[in-house]
This record gives sequence, structure tokens and C-alpha cells, in this order.
Amino acid sequence: MDNTETHAGRPPQTDFNTVFDNDLDYPRLGNVTFRRGTLTDNQEAMFNENWPTIGKDLADEIIDVDTWFNRQGHRTIVEIGSGTGTSTAAMAPLEADTNIIAVELYKPGLAKLMGQVVRGGLDNIRMVRGDGVEVMVRMFEPESLDGIRVFFPDPWPKARHNKRRIIQSGTLNLFASRLKKGGVLHVATDHADYAEWIDELVDVEPTLDYKGWPWDECPQLTNRQVITKFEGKGLDKDHVITEYLWEKK
Ligand SMILES: C[S@@+](CC[C@H](N)C(=O)[O-])C[C@H]1O[C@@H](n2cnc3c(N)ncnc32)[C@H](O)[C@@H]1O
Repeated sequence: MDNTETHAGRPPQTDFNTVFDNDLDYPRLGNVTFRRGTLTDNQEAMFNENWPTIGKDLADEIIDVDTWFNRQGHRTIVEIGSGTGTSTAAMAPLEADTNIIAVELYKPGLAKLMGQVVRGGLDNIRMVRGDGVEVMVRMFEPESLDGIRVFFPDPWPKARHNKRRIIQSGTLNLFASRLKKGGVLHVATDHADYAEWIDELVDVEPTLDYKGWPWDECPQLTNRQVITKFEGKGLDKDHVITEYLWEKK
């Protein structure tokens, strides 16, 4: 692949500054980020049966959303780092008219979400396995999405790991490029230091209008309905949840 570095056991990483001809900051995936994990035999069987229909692996393939969801012209929201999909599955029935695409590196998390999709008959969720930044670049056209969600991204608290954080000037620029005019970016964190980091970046992307929180007229569901696994861990430590909403200009 052009402009791609490949490392054994790690997903391909695009050199975004070269591809986009800018000097913005993009996250570097750490070695630990390509999580393998194991599934039970039952989960593996369910995963193998359903993945060809409702899942895709990162590829150089623009997703034809209407064909994949088997319906025409519905709103589409991508959630990056859906984890075990607790809030993804809780929100989906309340936004049944919206196509939800959950992107995650962690196969056991995708398998958990798939279990909820299959058992709950949730027909508006699809999944992509891969780095959400690469998935955005390689699998979605510019100005094609109504929303992007990033709930409780890995905080990478050590200063020397901060550059792995997914919210950076380059990813804000990339996410904005994939949103339609009026599309919404929603980020939540329970990590005070990450919140300070994001606070510094709220106005850095000129095509995003920072709306703060709450934004009563927001055109998409912003209530996660449940406390997600990572949110719960944060709340147990008395962390404060900070939420961010931007509108694509
Ligand atoms: C702290 S967890 C939060 C999960 C979930 N949103 C929640 O609130 O419970 C962060 C998740 O993001 C995933 N992740 C980290 N970097 C990612 C990336 N570049 N692309 C896709 N997923 C990523 C991790 O595998 C992990 O499951």
C-alpha cells in the first residue's frame, strides 16, 4: 500500500502528513493497541457465522452503506472504539432510523456487541474491525457521515504516551472531513487530564463549530442510556464525565 508503514503483528499505518500534505498531529498506535484476545467456542461460532454479513475488516474499500444496511438514504453514525458495545446496543433501538457502524480493534469486544445484536435483533448496527483512523480514511468518503462518536477513548495518561491519544488536531481535521455539513462529532471522557487536552483543541479545526455541552438542538441522540464499562470504572474513582459536541460547518 502506498504511504503505509507495515510492522509485524500490527495494522498498517498511513503516513497522514504525507497523504494529506499537512503538519497536523495524528495518533501513533502503540504496540499494545492491536488487541487480539480470545473468544469462547460459542462466541467464535457466532462471530464466524455473522461477521460476513454485519462485519468488515479494515480494507481499501469505500463502504456502500445503503447496500450494507439494505435500505436507502438513512442517516449514518460511526462510533470509534465501541469497546464491548454496551452503549452502542442500548442506543441503537432509540435511533432505529439511523445506521450505526461500530469500529473497534478488539475482537472480543466486537463479539460481545455481536451477541447483543443477534440476541436483540438489532438490525441497524454493523461493525468494522480496525484502527478507527485508518477506517475513516480508507472506508468512508468525504462528507458522507451524519455523526461520529468517540466515547471514553484510551486516556494514555503517561506524558510520553500522550501522542497516542486519538483526539488530536489531525484526527479532528479527518473526522470533520468525513462529516456532512451539519454533521455532529461527539466525544466523552472521564479522564481529567484528557479533558484538559481536548479543551485545548476544541477550536483548532476551522471546519468544526464547537457547541460545548449540552447542546439542546443537537440533531442526534447524545444520551448513552447506560453507564458504559469504562465510564463506570471512572465513576467508581469519582471521575467527572466531560462531553464535547461539534457541528460540521
Ligand atoms: C477505554 S475503552 C472505551 C470503550 C467504550 N467506548 C466504553 O465506553 O466502554 C477504549 C476502546 O477504544 C478501542 N480503541 C483504541 N484505539 C482505537 C482505534 N484507534 N480504533 C478503534 N478502536 C480503538 C480500544 O480497543 C477500547 O476498546
